[in-house]
Amino acid sequence: MPRAVVCRELGPPENLLLEDFERATLDEGQVRVALHAAGINFPDALMVAGQYQLKPDLPFTPGVEAAGEVIEAANVQGVKAGDRVIAKARFGCYADEIVVPSHQIVPLPGNFNFAQGATFLAAHGTACHALVDRAQIQEGETLLVHGAGGGVGLAAVELGKVFGATVIACASSEEKLAVAKQKGADRTVLYSREPFRDAVKRITDGRGVDVVFDPVGGEIFEQSLRCIAWGARLLVVGFTAGIGKAATNLVLIKGASVLGVRAGEAARKNPALGAARMKALLRLAEEGRVAPHISHRLPLEDCAKAMRLLIDRKAIGRVALTIR
Ligand SMILES: NC(=O)c1ccc[n+]([C@@H]2O[C@H](COP(=O)([O-])OP(=O)(O)OC[C@H]3O[C@@H](n4cnc5c(N)ncnc54)[C@H](OP(=O)(O)O)[C@@H]3O)[C@@H](O)[C@H]2O)c1
Repeated sequence: MPRAVVCRELGPPENLLLEDFERATLDEGQVRVALHAAGINFPDALMVAGQYQLKPDLPFTPGVEAAGEVIEAANVQGVKAGDRVIAKARFGCYADEIVVPSHQIVPLPGNFNFAQGATFLAAHGTACHALVDRAQIQEGETLLVHGAGGGVGLAAVELGKVFGATVIACASSEEKLAVAKQKGADRTVLYSREPFRDAVKRITDGRGVDVVFDPVGGEIFEQSLRCIAWGARLLVVGFTAGIGKAATNLVLIKGASVLGVRAGEAARKNPALGAARMKALLRLAEEGRVAPHISHRLPLEDCAKAMRLLIDRKAIGRVALTIR
């Protein structure tokens, strides 16, 4: 019988259970995917704690992305058993297998293994939507990335370089900054060494940055407003350190824009935009220009430990659950 991680009670990841479940029959247009790996994202931990905007009915299985092999398809053109795919969902991916409508799978890039496929789209998709659709980043601009050793942060470093920006990466450890450097960061800033706004001003000769990518929030967001250039765009991506406040006087003085980022919702509201972004990302992956960095791989039964790595800021890039 297949197994799934189940959240029966909201709270810490240690409350999660691993349970057998009965296979559902397929409806028209659905596919069954035998999962080989699933990706851990910070929003999964928030969802399990009941602190995410989406609150599924209990019990539910967390996990928004996975990769595996199609084992059954119900009248789906162009999809057959044996296809290697990435599966996306709003939740349900921490499991041996998943049933999804065929529009929720895409081909696994030929040069990716399953763990890479399972940890690619949420982070790179968010970073791509933020930088391209929201900030409209231009070649030659300067991009400041906070939490640059995290999932979406490291993806923003890598994509910032693909789009021709000069990237300043900030993180809390030298180890995280070393990985950001490997992914192309031009300059790195360790938060504990000096106030990052001073470092950024020095690096940019007092001009400030054009784009800020911020998955951290709180004080980091507030201080970011003090090292921006004229016409800067500040991307509000997440709040791992709390919700920041925008000082509107600083926004006005710099002719700046504060932009909210909701990658998944943007694709649901504008499927054509989502499809174009997906196509571009898969092409970049096939060309070997982007790939997730995976710091930890753990088996499905250790999903609580895997989520803890994110909560305790120990992950660098991505954490994958290995299932088969
Ligand atoms: N808007 C969207 O569409 C979207 C999509 C995906 C994720 N997100 C959000 O983006 C944020 C990052 O997600 P992720 O999956 O990339 O997470 P992650 O891999 O855990 O990275 C988060 C980074 O935040 C920093 N951080 C600072 N204070 C922290 C704290 N108290 N606890 C944990 N981390 C802290 C850490 O960097 P340092 O140790 O270097 O400070 C860490 O590397 C989350 O808020 C998530 O909900 C938003």
